[in-house]
Amino acid sequence: MRKFGHFDDERKEYVIQSPRTPYPWINYLGTQAFFSLISNTAGGYSFYKDARLRRITRYRYNNVPIDMGGRYFYLKDGETIWNPGWSPVKTELDAYECRHGMGYTVITGKKNDLKAEVTFFVPQNYDGEVQQVVLTNEGSNAKTFKLFSFAEWCLWDAQDDCTNFQRNFSTGRVEVDGSTIYHKTEYRDRRDHFAFYTVNDTIDGYDTDRDSFIGLYNGFGDPQAVLDGKATNSFADGWSPIASHYKEITLQPGESKTLIFILGYVEMPVDKKFEADGVTINKEKAHAMIEQYNTPEKVAAGLAELKAAWDKLLGIFNVKTSDDKVNRMVNIWNQYQCMVTFNLSRSASYFESGIGRGMGFRDSNQDILGFVHQIPDRARERLIDLASTQLEDGGCYHQYQPLTKKGNSDIGGDFSDDPLWMILSVGAYIKETGDWGILDQPVPYDNDESKAKPMLDHLTVSFYHIVNNLGPHGLPLAMRADWNDCINLSCFSDKPGESFQTYTNPKFKAEGGYSKVAESVMVAALFTYAGPTYVGILKHLGKDDEAAKAQAEIDKMKKNVMDSAFDGDWFLRAYDAFGNKMGSKECEEGKIFIEPQGFAVMSEIGKDQGADIKTLNSIDKYLNTKYGLVLNNPAFSKYYIQYGEISTYPGGYKENAGIFTHNNAWIICAEAYAGRGDKAFEYYSKIAPAFNEDISDLHKTEPYVYGQMIAGKDASRFGEGKNSWLTGTAAWNFVAISQYILGISADFDGLKVDPSIPKAWDGFTATRKFRGATYNITVQNPDHVSKGVKSLTVDGKAVEGNIVPVFTDGGEHKVVAVLG
Ligand code: BGC
Ligand code: NOJ
Repeated sequence: MRKFGHFDDERKEYVIQSPRTPYPWINYLGTQAFFSLISNTAGGYSFYKDARLRRITRYRYNNVPIDMGGRYFYLKDGETIWNPGWSPVKTELDAYECRHGMGYTVITGKKNDLKAEVTFFVPQNYDGEVQQVVLTNEGSNAKTFKLFSFAEWCLWDAQDDCTNFQRNFSTGRVEVDGSTIYHKTEYRDRRDHFAFYTVNDTIDGYDTDRDSFIGLYNGFGDPQAVLDGKATNSFADGWSPIASHYKEITLQPGESKTLIFILGYVEMPVDKKFEADGVTINKEKAHAMIEQYNTPEKVAAGLAELKAAWDKLLGIFNVKTSDDKVNRMVNIWNQYQCMVTFNLSRSASYFESGIGRGMGFRDSNQDILGFVHQIPDRARERLIDLASTQLEDGGCYHQYQPLTKKGNSDIGGDFSDDPLWMILSVGAYIKETGDWGILDQPVPYDNDESKAKPMLDHLTVSFYHIVNNLGPHGLPLAMRADWNDCINLSCFSDKPGESFQTYTNPKFKAEGGYSKVAESVMVAALFTYAGPTYVGILKHLGKDDEAAKAQAEIDKMKKNVMDSAFDGDWFLRAYDAFGNKMGSKECEEGKIFIEPQGFAVMSEIGKDQGADIKTLNSIDKYLNTKYGLVLNNPAFSKYYIQYGEISTYPGGYKENAGIFTHNNAWIICAEAYAGRGDKAFEYYSKIAPAFNEDISDLHKTEPYVYGQMIAGKDASRFGEGKNSWLTGTAAWNFVAISQYILGISADFDGLKVDPSIPKAWDGFTATRKFRGATYNITVQNPDHVSKGVKSLTVDGKAVEGNIVPVFTDGGEHKVVAVLG
């Protein structure tokens, strides 16, 4: 078992020491509008806002080798050709290091006494990627060598770009002006945006046509121009436009040279697109952007500004426990990942092509749970964007495109869980900020302003969308799917190509599109878990009658679950379209599922009959493995047409008994809720990536971020991670560790301190900024218990219960909680 680097917590970086990581280990640059993915060998691509509709550079997914294409610098030193990031030329380097930090990546390579250090970042409020190359001659003789840069343009719409070749091979257009290469495909006609790639120095040549630079029979690893040691000054006219600068450099021993490259994106007002000739691009804005980062001093200042912004964000919630791995996950990487998932939902990663999915309704609402404390204003805007895609009956579009903010009608709606997540996310936003005003804000239905109603109305229709769509046992209808996209109880698909997420069997047409028999116990439990947030909101607003009415629905649902969906030792998963139990002892396979259990335990369904502890013990017994909790057990070994996609995966992968880290968090929360801090922490440490660093060769994906899935015990690659970065796991595990285990959570009327920690811990300290004030929290555990606040003092004064009041003084407050 081995690792491929180490954490540098001081600098908030992961330092990769071998380019041959078990999978490309990537980072994200940009947090606002311009985004880049960058791997540890500088592979990846950039886009503006929307990875599908506004793709700036090209990337080929599922390539051979897997990570080919990116922003590359080629050095030709004598006959030796190499890249600072090792790939794509793959010349063995004398030294290699990649530091992924908060919004920046530094890749350093060394070969034959020449050192190249490249810093990549997207500055704050800037629509471009800055790449600073520092070349140093570390030898004792003067060196003359050649540098080539490389970026390949995408023709904007990433989907069209990789399918519509009969047109696209004839549309590509560029302009070259000094050291700047402009990409202007379609700018003459229907687009008002272009991109550029520039360097802050004179150049000795360039290439803008891919085949001229690379050669038709060569690859990224042996571009013909680099082999020949000279650019061809090619001018792209159709085919595949690229941007490559060429420069000859001589360095004396010990001498360094810094070059700053910028890959930028510019939008122009329609009447200012061209110069007077009506043809040449108006470059005013581009020049201003280039000006902003054309010296090392400006780059250093931009980087310092970025680092300061991250220090500030990460300073909002900070803990010090006796476990370094917990500290680095909570203080650095988990929060960082929450920003990335908030920004990108499930759109663009090394497992999501940027084409398939926009912003998911359930996904983005859950992402807010992990992000809201960082920039509440952006969370607010997102909530409104999401709620605007809701329909008047409380249903909603399952996804929307970030560029248009319109619901995606190809995918449609009818996912039974979707509306409930919005109750949780709006609740989390109000708890964080105390901004009750959001509830009065008019928000459209179906993106139609004329249908706008206050946000509170959106919560009401969300809540009653469940109540109004119950099946025979009084449980929520499963519809096309619930949280588990792969339990498709109305699908009955027997033809390849039918999408399990969008196809419903014509036999349900008369019933309104999906089975009116299939019910989801998971949605029932989610309803009883999220419902109280809605009730709490109503009570705060003094709407006591409405609150009582909603509470009655929650109580009724709990009863229905106990009457029809408790299987003796755990909760059922669903009733299928025939009214048969799913996730029951009676089933041949898939006897127990993870998803409903945590929410049911936290809603205290059947607690008086011991249902909570029985359920948690069953999870431990049937789902726990050495790498985490599997989603269901036993895995499905054949196709169950009545269940859908879940039974199409080999056992142990994805939803079919994979370790879905997202819902492991719900059990961690439930264990902590039940006061079993040791179990909660055991499950947490099995999946938190920093804890898996030592088995990186098995785990494969980045040891600094969560992946969606770890292969379960039925899989031949048990323990192997997949689908890293874009997953609800980030938000939920942040909730699990920070709010449930460490127990610090925003509440409507204050900051709650209610830890549920391993008994062995002596306590911990934390800093939490909350509604303008800073809370310096010390938790002491003299009796070595897991849970229970015996005493709470705030600024030396005893406080009843476990809620620290809101302070409006913007000051610092000392909180001491003693467990026992
Ligand atoms: C995957 C799910 C995913 C869904 C939606 C399925 O194929 O297994 O994890 O949520 O597609 O795209
Ligand atoms: C990933 C999807 O993004 C998410 O929406 C879904 O809940 C899970 N897969 C489980 O199927």
